[in-house]
Amino acid sequence: MTFSTWKTPSTWARRTLAVAASVGLVGCGGGSSGGGTAETPLNWTSPGGNATVAVHATAPFMQFAPSIDAAQMVGVSQGRELFVAEWQAAPGPRALLDGLGPLFNANACSACHAVDGRVAPYTAAGGTTPAVLFRIGNASGNEHPVFGAQLQHQSTEGLAEGWVTWSRQATTGALNHVVTLFDSTSDLSGYHLGARISPQLVGMGLLDLVSEAQILEYADADDRNGDGVSGRPHWVTEEGVTRIGRFGWKAINATLRTQNAGALHQDMGLTTPVNPVENCTPAQTVCATAASGGTPEVSEASLMAVVDFMTVLAVPDRRIADQKAFDQGARLFGSIGCVACHRPTLTTMTHPRFPSLSNQTLYAYTDLLLHDMGDGLSDGIQEKDAAPREWRTPPLWGLGIVEQKAGARFLHDGRATTLREAIEWHGGEAQSARDRFTGLGEGDKALLLQFLRGI
Ligand code: HEC
Ligand code: HEC
Repeated sequence: MTFSTWKTPSTWARRTLAVAASVGLVGCGGGSSGGGTAETPLNWTSPGGNATVAVHATAPFMQFAPSIDAAQMVGVSQGRELFVAEWQAAPGPRALLDGLGPLFNANACSACHAVDGRVAPYTAAGGTTPAVLFRIGNASGNEHPVFGAQLQHQSTEGLAEGWVTWSRQATTGALNHVVTLFDSTSDLSGYHLGARISPQLVGMGLLDLVSEAQILEYADADDRNGDGVSGRPHWVTEEGVTRIGRFGWKAINATLRTQNAGALHQDMGLTTPVNPVENCTPAQTVCATAASGGTPEVSEASLMAVVDFMTVLAVPDRRIADQKAFDQGARLFGSIGCVACHRPTLTTMTHPRFPSLSNQTLYAYTDLLLHDMGDGLSDGIQEKDAAPREWRTPPLWGLGIVEQKAGARFLHDGRATTLREAIEWHGGEAQSARDRFTGLGEGDKALLLQFLRGI
């Protein structure tokens, strides 16, 4: 896919002035009026600090932070190669890149995380693509005894687990997913399928560098400020350390290291020092007989190369045709309470190895916290400590670029085909912000959506 319809970056107003302060951007929902300073231009700094790049025409989500120095390019380039490489079953012609499966969803990270946005998860004919994963679970957080926590629809040998079709519920507009299991001796009774579409990867290393103290500042689990929004951190224990989860739709992984190792393991069937055992349950004997690509299949050095590549992923610059309208949209985003969860700014701590990423102001529009989004968005699955109705506020930067790609979908299961629909699905803690959005006049709605497309 290409972006032939994009204007060149030079035609977009790019503001690199002092940090935005005003706007009610930092206000907490509450429906306060965004007026008063409506005519004062807002001051913006680059959305990813010095990790910001002009939007690349064909690979906007594949750029290195421009501040990375040449000496560091070697490691991150290697990580980039591993990210786009097509892994093969062992024994393969390239030992470094074998060990795929036996159970897996896709053979390359980039098969799901396209360089130009979100891969279409659903086909018009009711089929699914590898870019949508299905968690299997229930409200008690149990994994399925035969299939584990994720459905793998491909295998290098033996039977894969099953494939999924989708349709839209006539009454609610939510999605139905129906699985056909390849092994008819097992079933999923008592378990739910939870669709998770592949997000665009933007500024991952910057989000990894936000301090827990800052995330906790935004947390308000008991809603002491009475704004109806009660974000809470998702504490997870990985590799023996308890930290705040921040990656994935339910923030189930705390670091890029464990997130990437999890992707290699669950999505591609590759073992790492983090997950040294193949992703089979004891009932799945195919793992015991399949050839291994090494112990582990992905070395510590390769894993960290992927992590380093993710760390230096750049943030595409804003796309602003009309600065005044953009500022008006930003004010609306503040005044109707979107900012109670989609916090405009975060700051990075010091990075020991990539010092240029340190102390940057980010406009990611997330608090990295879990919120109860209501029954409409629940899929009945508890993941780690995140309840079925809880979802992490997703970062919104780059979403306008995502929207340009054919078949792009929004929200965790991709039920929304437009940004507007995504907002209209907000419930639970976000119900009142959603209602304030639907209550806006068409002109204001357009301003808000135009702002979202530019961030
Ligand atoms: C089969 C499709 C698929 C493959 C292959 C895949 N991913 Fe993902 N990735 C996803 C999905 C789906 C999510 C969201 C998962 C969730 O919500 O728990 C995700 C989430 C992520 C995130 C967190 C994004 C965020 O906003 O929190 C990162 C980082 C990531 N993947 C990196 C990778 C890397 C690196 C690889 C290769 C080693 C990879 N992925 C392979 C589908 C895939
Ligand atoms: C209570 C917290 C909260 C508030 C308030 C809130 N959001 Fe969200 N937003 C979320 C969460 C959590 C999700 C992910 C839900 C899911 O995937 O099921 C989300 C998802 C989105 C998405 C889709 C993102 C994607 O990656 O597909 C958009 C767009 C969005 N919100 C815009 C808004 C706008 C505009 C407002 C104000 C009208 C708003 N949100 C208010 C928490 C919130």
